[in-house]
Amino acid sequence: MSHKVLILNGPNLNLLGLREPEIYGSQTLNDVEDLCKKTATDLDMDIDFRQSNHEGTLVDWIQEARVSFDAIIINPAAYTHTSVAILDALQAVEKPVIEVHLSNIHKREEFRHTSYVSKTAQGVICGLGPQGYELAMLALSRLLSSQ
Ligand code: DQA
Repeated sequence: MSHKVLILNGPNLNLLGLREPEIYGSQTLNDVEDLCKKTATDLDMDIDFRQSNHEGTLVDWIQEARVSFDAIIINPAAYTHTSVAILDALQAVEKPVIEVHLSNIHKREEFRHTSYVSKTAQGVICGLGPQGYELAMLALSRLLSSQ
């Protein structure tokens, strides 16, 4: 049976491709979704790829994973560095979480070096662009198959 993975993207990631391309690259969020869909086919994984600019919507979606998904991949964007609500929701779900960032947050401003989400993530991938999503899916596929 294929594993169900929820892939969540936080605020401003809808502007990918237009927004600071020197940091985030020229690929759009649709391109990232296409890459994830192709990877899902290769891994026999069932994915749901979503983006929201709203913290509460992300919390609602994370809660949905309690019953409807096997794992979560999340790029919480700016909420990474501020949101206790997203951390609490991820902890309540009790499913594996992989945190992804397109840019290397540790190479950037000091305020980006802290991640609330990392306190609960099984793994963190940053600085590898859209490939980070692909690697997170591969890691989850192996993890879920070994459970
Ligand atoms: C980001 C890094 C965050 O610091 C930033 O607020 C984002 C995107 C990334 O993917 O590199 O919006 O999560």
